[in-house]
Amino acid sequence: MATTTSSTIAVIGGTGQEGRGLALRWAAAGYPVLIGSRKREKAERKAAELNEQLAGHNPHPIRGLSNGEAAAAADIISLVVPYAAQQNILSDIREGAQGKTILTSVVPLDPANPKCLLAPPDGSAAAEAQRLLGPDVAVVTAFQNVGAHALQAWDRPVDCDIFVCGDDRDAKRTAMDLVRHLGLRPLDAGPLVNAVAVEGLTPILIGLNIRHRARGAGIRVTGLP
Ligand SMILES: NC(=O)c1ccc[n+]([C@@H]2O[C@H](COP(=O)([O-])OP(=O)(O)OC[C@H]3O[C@@H](n4cnc5c(N)ncnc54)[C@H](OP(=O)(O)O)[C@@H]3O)[C@@H](O)[C@H]2O)c1
Repeated sequence: MATTTSSTIAVIGGTGQEGRGLALRWAAAGYPVLIGSRKREKAERKAAELNEQLAGHNPHPIRGLSNGEAAAAADIISLVVPYAAQQNILSDIREGAQGKTILTSVVPLDPANPKCLLAPPDGSAAAEAQRLLGPDVAVVTAFQNVGAHALQAWDRPVDCDIFVCGDDRDAKRTAMDLVRHLGLRPLDAGPLVNAVAVEGLTPILIGLNIRHRARGAGIRVTGLP
């Protein structure tokens, strides 16, 4: 399925740092965006705040819903929650996600030290999500290596490439369109099993930001045409 800006995107975790940045950018790119939260009122408040921030640059107003409602109402689901919350949140959205694409940006950081990965038994957060959601959901990954600070500056370009992993060809094409429509270069990083490598880059970037007193360390691949 080719992605068009008429596809509705639910951003589960859109009240948080990374999700807010993605919601702003997809809304500014013309997508109808739904923000999901454990508390509907919190999502409604955040949606109003983001609409104000976009100041009319979004053709469709962002709406706030509960996580379950947002997943059920969307065509595509973006998952941007802390890894510790992933299991609970996936059980809330599992029913509404069946037959859909889930684009996850979740990284399993060590809560005691975000400069380190704490890889789950499935290998990656993405592989765990695929197992928990079942075979009728196409899990793809992107945006694990771009910081919230850069995404939230929605009217400025982001200086990095975006790796996309997934096993379902159509879902991966959809994810690459969602990246491209934000003005970023998507790079096909292979099957979902490779998500462990992409997730593993995030704590490295966090460590670099800390050591260099920076905020925007990112990945740019050289040598490609
Ligand atoms: N921040 C970044 O720069 C960045 C960069 C790359 C990847 N990521 C990844 O993106 C994901 C989200 O990161 P973030 O910094 O945006 O996280 P966050 O702001 O701490 O949390 C995002 C949202 O998740 C929900 N949430 C938080 N704690 C929860 C809990 N214990 N149980 C259930 N829901 C909870 C909250 O939504 P409600 O309260 O509204 O339900 C919250 O607004 C993480 O996996 C992170 O590794 C982040």
